[in-house]
Amino acid sequence: MDIQWDILAEYAPYFAKGTLLTIGLSLAGILIGCILGLFIGLGKMVRNKFIAFPFNCYIAFFRGTPLMVQILLIHFGVIPPILGTTNAIVAAIVALSLNSAAYVSEIFRAGIQSIDKGQMEAARSLGMNHVQAMRFVILPQAFKRMIPPLGNEFVVLIKDSSLAAIIAAPELMYWGRAMQGQYYRPWEPYITAALIYFVLTFSLSLLLSRLERRLTTE
Ligand code: ARG
Repeated sequence: MDIQWDILAEYAPYFAKGTLLTIGLSLAGILIGCILGLFIGLGKMVRNKFIAFPFNCYIAFFRGTPLMVQILLIHFGVIPPILGTTNAIVAAIVALSLNSAAYVSEIFRAGIQSIDKGQMEAARSLGMNHVQAMRFVILPQAFKRMIPPLGNEFVVLIKDSSLAAIIAAPELMYWGRAMQGQYYRPWEPYITAALIYFVLTFSLSLLLSRLERRLTTE
């Protein structure tokens, strides 16, 4: 395996740009996913079955079909009638956010339901109403438990944003494939891409475990 450093140097600026877009796509995906996921999670927890039904369908669809199919559907089916044209970056952000929202909603729900029901009863017996008990007793404890799985979700999103390469969003994997297509060499592009993804996910995991430790020792 003789590495051709010159072609790596040629593609370095593209990999740099691609990495920035990869970070942007996953950041946008996790942020929008968290906001949407909160609403969908709350919707699913509503006792009325008719209200909860559409939220259940949403979660079932986005968790039960491949992200790759969702990206293609949104890129070619949903975005063109709205924008009048295709736009790979917008489609990638929409697909990643909608997909992530389904997973995040389950993280929120699990976090809230994991808090012992005695906590709510104790808060209510102190004279708090339901909203106050949620706000001051349940949610602060639940958020702590949600941080590790939300961090995992972010890591997954960084790696899965590579699927946006199939609709030609110029992120990291797109440039890896472009380089492979130009030189017919597998190692330089794909090891470089793998290394960059690894650095991104590994440093994020380190950051998250530090945050977790700080929260648990409090
Ligand atoms: N590889 C999965 C798929 O093809 C991606 C699921 C996304 N997972 C997530 N936690 N957001 O559907």
